Amino acid sequence: MINKIGIVGGGNIGGVLAAEIVSRRLARNVALVDVKGPDLAAGKCLDIAEAMPVYGSDVNIVGAKTYDILTGCDFVINTAGVPRAMRPDGTFPSREELLAINLQITDLVADGINEFAPGAFVISIANPLDAIVYRLFKKLKANPARIMGMAGVLDSARYKYFVATAAGVSVENVEAVVLGGHGDTMVPIRSACRIYGLPVEQFVDAKALDAIEDRTRNAGGEVVKLLGSGSAFVSPAISALEMVEAIAFDKKKIVPVCALLQGQYGVDGLFVGVPCILGKGGIEKIIEITLTPAEAEALKKSVDAVRKTCAEVDAAK
Ligand code: LAC
Repeated sequence: MINKIGIVGGGNIGGVLAAEIVSRRLARNVALVDVKGPDLAAGKCLDIAEAMPVYGSDVNIVGAKTYDILTGCDFVINTAGVPRAMRPDGTFPSREELLAINLQITDLVADGINEFAPGAFVISIANPLDAIVYRLFKKLKANPARIMGMAGVLDSARYKYFVATAAGVSVENVEAVVLGGHGDTMVPIRSACRIYGLPVEQFVDAKALDAIEDRTRNAGGEVVKLLGSGSAFVSPAISALEMVEAIAFDKKKIVPVCALLQGQYGVDGLFVGVPCILGKGGIEKIIEITLTPAEAEALKKSVDAVRKTCAEVDAAK
């Protein structure tokens, strides 16, 4: 059992995270920080705590407006920021358009972590994902093995779900990975997609796979459009916990993680979604997989998009 998990941001993702940690008895202590409302975080935590007799779970869960409750955290999961939401005219912003507003929030989060939980593993979910992790890294000056973004687990889960549905098989039979930035340029890797260990093309034809990969790239927006007020929250929260468990239980599990590249895939100094071994040291190894020329080209484009947003981060200093 983990001693303490901190969550920054008490919105939809933060709420699911806190409830799920209690339900799984994943940590002895949970601390939820949110500056909003009379005391939004305390309210969310009280709600969850009052369900604990029904869960049969004795977790010490505390919510507050101040960061000091993060003291002693082994993990901090950052969800703080404005999510994508539908505009009255039916359009919605790209994740990158959230940069200016979410950057200000991120700087406050970084100050809080620096002061109260400097040694914690940091897993960030706020958007634009890759640029926010980049900013956190610059501000936290943390060991890059301990700071990462959650996007690839979610994007790959979406890809797997669509493939499983099209093939008429269990989601458990599908292995699939999405790499690159967490934007519309993300790269579903068809050459690594397998159903029961067999190439996906044996089950789903190329045209259907094209449509599935397109849907995967736009899957976050599809949910935003349907919800009308905000973005996906259950799948991102559960995906972040997959990473927490891989680290906490030293699973050595290979998962796609938004990680600092230092020469891998020909990239230096940017956070990009790549397969990593997660264990007790955090990101213990970045795995370089062989891509088809088309996949390599698409990854390069995706990295270029991340580089552009990170240049805006640097300019915003
Ligand atoms: C999504 C948001 C959370 O992809 O980035 O749904």
